[in-house]
Amino acid sequence: ARFNVAIVGATGAVGETLLEILAERRFPVANLVALASERSAGGTVKFDGRDVVVQDLAGFDPAGIDIALFSAGGSTSKDYAPKFAAAGAVVIDNSSAFRGDADVPLVVAEVNPDALKQRPRGIVANPNCSTMQMLAALAPLHRRAGIERINVATYQSVSGTGRRALEELGRQTAALLGFQEVTPEVYPVQIAFNVIPHGGDFTDNGYTTEEMKLVHETRKILGDDSIMVNATVARVPVFYGHSEAVHIETREKLSAAEARALLEQAPGVSVVDDHADGGYPTAVTHASGKDPVFVGRIREDISHPRGLDLWIVADNIRKGAALNAVQLAELVAAERD
Ligand code: A2P
Repeated sequence: ARFNVAIVGATGAVGETLLEILAERRFPVANLVALASERSAGGTVKFDGRDVVVQDLAGFDPAGIDIALFSAGGSTSKDYAPKFAAAGAVVIDNSSAFRGDADVPLVVAEVNPDALKQRPRGIVANPNCSTMQMLAALAPLHRRAGIERINVATYQSVSGTGRRALEELGRQTAALLGFQEVTPEVYPVQIAFNVIPHGGDFTDNGYTTEEMKLVHETRKILGDDSIMVNATVARVPVFYGHSEAVHIETREKLSAAEARALLEQAPGVSVVDDHADGGYPTAVTHASGKDPVFVGRIREDISHPRGLDLWIVADNIRKGAALNAVQLAELVAAERD
């Protein structure tokens, strides 16, 4: 079978990569429709070596679309995803609009693929990039030893904020190297040569929305509301690839060697853990432009009898967003074969 596929947000940082990965993995596309706002309607995007004209989402009739991949922000998803689903499409939504809804599955392809089968609203949610890479690595450890608590600090690249943030980092870096002043636009403070302890919006408990996503999404995907998650999200001046320092506490003791062996078998995970200079994954040397979730610095926590430390890095636009969305589309396609 071949599928009529719509990309909503086709001109964005994630949309562009969705187009690349659909072609790269030879997804069985019959007709590809590229949608964005009226600002970019009439322009073109590249798909499989050809130009596709971008259409205005607001004026588009979704009849005949089989699979719609949404990555155009939460409010666009809220407004349009139900319309596409009502017209018969399966919507795979990269925004946070539906992730918390009990009747919308939240799926990491390697972790809980079966959850996708129950989608009464025709909508499947793609997890947040930071949750995605963390759980690809932690799920096999959780199954073996039962994770009770996760302490995580993230080092998130600017591409997660979108195309304007990539441009802002480039512009500020160039300006500062030329001894010029910079005025922050996308981020509240200067991002070049800086670290900003802030992702999303502040909530009443002092955490930010990006931090609370790690709490709620982890519990939903692992199907375990007892897991405690304490997150600090920071934005760093890196273009592509999120890094995470993750500390877990398990019910059963898990040695570093056992954890390493489990991770070496885990689908979508690549262990890079030589105790030597450069023997660990980084956003630039390993993750950027690549598919796997890379794990290194695996060690037993000297401050806790059942604690384990890991360093988890992935391309936030690929596994953290577009790749997982395409993997979910592949699972949907497989149902109809
Ligand atoms: P456009 O290029 O027309 O603004 P990013 O995350 O890189 O900023 O990309 C966001 C994507 O979402 C872009 O493709 C953008 O299209 C699209 N988008 C944003 N707002 C809307 C909207 N109201 N309707 C349709 N597409 C939208």
